[in-house]
Amino acid sequence: MRRGLIVFGILIIWMTIQLRYNEAVIFKLTNAVCKTHNRSWVSINKCRLRAIARNKAAFYFNASFLQPTKNIFLEAQILKRASGFKPWLYKFSLDCCRFLKKSYNPVAIIMYNLYSGFSNLNHTCPYEGDQIIDGFYPRYELLHGLPLPTGDYLLEMTWLFYNKPQFLRNVYFQFTEDL
Ligand SMILES: *[C@@H]1O[C@H](CO)[C@@H](O)[C@H](O)[C@H]1NC(C)=O
Ligand SMILES: *[C@@H]1O[C@H](CO)[C@@H](O)[C@H](O)[C@H]1NC(C)=O
Ligand SMILES: *[C@@H]1O[C@H](CO)[C@@H](O)[C@H](O)[C@H]1NC(C)=O
Repeated sequence: MRRGLIVFGILIIWMTIQLRYNEAVIFKLTNAVCKTHNRSWVSINKCRLRAIARNKAAFYFNASFLQPTKNIFLEAQILKRASGFKPWLYKFSLDCCRFLKKSYNPVAIIMYNLYSGFSNLNHTCPYEGDQIIDGFYPRYELLHGLPLPTGDYLLEMTWLFYNKPQFLRNVYFQFTEDL
């Protein structure tokens, strides 16, 4: 009985530390900017953040693809602020239609897992019609140890159809690990 109580006590302390630890991390969207390069193919209906809690903002995105596309490439780059945004570790080009058939890029898998539950983008190509991300916010647990030092970041994403840039989606976020 006593032993059980001690184990229970240790468990509570451990859980409190875990909770504190997670609370000490701020992983927060700070701005979002979208821009179409070709209004006859992509119209951006919505691209904005809304504060949902202290240190939490949700992203709302709605874009219409006015023609179907079976060829989508993402050119993504993460920039980190250091007197202006400077290119940082991760930069890649991703064949999205191939990726949606079989995930292959580890950083893209993390990005995809972060937002896919908030969107209707969980399917294979072709893509047509309204593309929705509804109330997305990043979750620290889903980074799975991806190294991210404290700082302000910009995730720059240019989306190409058939090798031509069609639209841009830039997401700014803050990551603070304060222990
Ligand atoms: C713009 O979109 C149309 C489809 O609506 C496409 O035929 C055309 O090639 C696109 N232009 C560029 C520069 O991507
Ligand atoms: C997305 O935008 C289109 C065009 O404005 C609208 O018809 C549609 O209802 C929107 N979808 C959602 C889920 O908000
Ligand atoms: C879509 O979501 C379902 C259920 O969450 C999942 O099993 C499936 O693997 C996802 N598909 C893709 C292409 O990610």
